[in-house]
Amino acid sequence: MQWQKDIDLTHKNSFGFPAIADHFAEVDQIEDLESVLDSVEKNGWPLLILGGGSNLVLREKIPGAVLSVATQGLNILADNEHTAIIEVGAGENWHGFITQLLQKGLHGLENLALIPGSVGAAPVQNIGAYGVEIADCFHSLTAYDRINKELVQLGKDECQFGYRDSLFKSDAKGRYIIWTVRFSLSTVFTPKIGYKGISDHLDALGIVEPSAYQVYQAVCDIRMGKLPLPTELGNAGSFFENPIVTESTYQRLKAQFPDIVAYPDKAGHFKLAAGWLIDRAGWKGCRVGEVGVYDKQALVLVNYGQGLATDLLKLAEDISLSVKNQFDVKLKIEPRIYPE
Ligand code: EPU
Repeated sequence: MQWQKDIDLTHKNSFGFPAIADHFAEVDQIEDLESVLDSVEKNGWPLLILGGGSNLVLREKIPGAVLSVATQGLNILADNEHTAIIEVGAGENWHGFITQLLQKGLHGLENLALIPGSVGAAPVQNIGAYGVEIADCFHSLTAYDRINKELVQLGKDECQFGYRDSLFKSDAKGRYIIWTVRFSLSTVFTPKIGYKGISDHLDALGIVEPSAYQVYQAVCDIRMGKLPLPTELGNAGSFFENPIVTESTYQRLKAQFPDIVAYPDKAGHFKLAAGWLIDRAGWKGCRVGEVGVYDKQALVLVNYGQGLATDLLKLAEDISLSVKNQFDVKLKIEPRIYPE
């Protein structure tokens, strides 16, 4: 297995930031994976596992090695009257996978249509949208364990899924390389349309009992209206997490800003819409040189073409500071910054 040297990653990250990787390899065979990991270890290189690059802020120089997992394919492992367990390669495109499920009549993940990125990246941050997150249909995954140097199976509990969080971002960061992912899906469609955005959209179309295709299409339409396509305008979806605050903080804010948008969260806590905070702080649609805040969704930061990670991180810092000053709430950046 040969390394490619000085590889340009501009088109491998959804912000489109220029970044040069010292060493790059793409693997879809375990023997190749073992061989490249061996050389990473021998050389003492830092290693970045690159999925779809859609939740990543890349700086210009990427030292060490970048590895892309290209495992493909979708197999039905087991099915009965109501459920099917399917296995999919980590290198598959997420939206392509969701579209294939729709065609096969396998349900549960429709609300996650059009999320950019790869299947292998999805468990890392437990991707979620419109009232569904992958943990809801997750079965298990196969990953390469870099410590014990073997393939392992990890079940749902072991993956420790939380809001935009998992084992792979916290306790075991860098340890596992996700190879295939298994989902438990339903052959009977039950729409999950409790999320206001979806129900409003379907109501406007006069759809009362939507089909799986109609929910999928509604999600695609809503996303297209609010989130820029990375191929047209560089972005990584939501740039900040929605902050979770205590009830007393929420009550303080609600008294001061009666129209604040928040949702009850785990016991005694509230999840604030970071988009509302940033919007209210006056940032929506602001452009600073080559980067800015998207004009249809304040939670999305964009690269107009020639921006760099440093420009974007400076903007993010200014936004965080103004939100802190105005609301006394701390924002947390959602995508990974590499090198940190
Ligand atoms: N809002 C504003 N101004 C804005 C944006 C939002 O006032 O500029 C308010 C609106 O009232 C809106 C509310 O904030 O109703 C929530 O906005 P939205 O429904 O667009 O969802 P979000 O909280 O901004 C989250 C996820 C998205 C996901 C959507 C839909 C996070 C960090 N983001 O966004 O995920 O698609 O809900 O479920 O949890 C991503 O993670 O990259 C992502 C796009």
